[in-house]
Amino acid sequence: MENSIDDEKISINDIKPDKSKRILTGDRPTGRLHIGHLFGSLKSRVELQDKFETYIEVADVQALTDNFNNPDKVKQNVSQIVIDYLSVGIDPTKANIFLQSKIQEIAELTVFYSNLVTIARLQRNPTVKTEIAQKKEIFGESVTYGFLGYPVSQAADITAFDASYVPVGEDQLPLIEQCREIVRKFNSIYGETLREPVAVMSKNIRIKGLDGNVKMGKSLGNALYLSDDLQTITEKVMSALTDPARIKKDDPGNPDICMVYYYHKLFSDENTCKNVCEECKAGKRGCVACKKQLIENINKTLEPIREKRHYYEERPKEVMDILMSGTSHARDVAKQTMEKVKKSMKLDY
Ligand code: TRP
Repeated sequence: MENSIDDEKISINDIKPDKSKRILTGDRPTGRLHIGHLFGSLKSRVELQDKFETYIEVADVQALTDNFNNPDKVKQNVSQIVIDYLSVGIDPTKANIFLQSKIQEIAELTVFYSNLVTIARLQRNPTVKTEIAQKKEIFGESVTYGFLGYPVSQAADITAFDASYVPVGEDQLPLIEQCREIVRKFNSIYGETLREPVAVMSKNIRIKGLDGNVKMGKSLGNALYLSDDLQTITEKVMSALTDPARIKKDDPGNPDICMVYYYHKLFSDENTCKNVCEECKAGKRGCVACKKQLIENINKTLEPIREKRHYYEERPKEVMDILMSGTSHARDVAKQTMEKVKKSMKLDY
């Protein structure tokens, strides 16, 4: 197989639509999706589903690598994440949403690939290294074989579908790099069989939390969820970090250190942002009014998402049918890859 793509990553703005190429991406079903996901990955997936053959994996097996003692949590989040996808506009007639644990070929590929990567290389993977450090309470002093090896299983996710592109955030780049190494090693030993994937970087990579933290996350308690109702959003925005030096309404403020302004830039039109900035600097805009206007604009974005979410929440069977039909199609593709792989590895009995 000829590989025409040499670059390791490409910006979403630079890729040419091509329905004959596949994209593969996924999430661990461990919690509700928030607006960090919306800007960081979901919006670009909605855009890409019209341009490529799209596969979106609900990575339940990967979720178990650091939640092996909590299968209920993973199970509950499977349908929740599918509902999140559908509510933001991922369209099951365009994208295959599928469940990792139902694709046995991924597990099988993981075993084959595990010969092609050393323990030392996995321990050096920056993403894995950071995660292990954050998960001391799960792993104690020694990490599990499964967690250390999840990049191998993620390489299986990607290559099982012969994916050309993998839209991911910056933090996932070392995993794509590791996948490319496994592919090169496989091809050099067993002959040209697998495709080296290219990471697709989206425009907005990381959204800060309402408290000003560089990361928005569940454990940090600073996230706005796609499923939050108006009341919850109001409470969260009202407590967002503003310029601490601004005490009275007519004190001149510094919008650059204010999270309310930061979020206006995500949810409000250009004109509003300009007014917010100028009036704040001139001490002509109170923080409360500013927050109220932001709440209204966030709500304009979230209301249609919430409506769709409500529709699917009332139809759990429809949600599972969508997931199972995406899975069945995905499995057909993975089976074809497995045939090629087994032939190359001389396991074609
Ligand atoms: N590791 C990814 C995350 O934690 C989820 C994931 C699993 C994934 N398989 C994938 C992402 C394949 C891209 C491609 O977010």
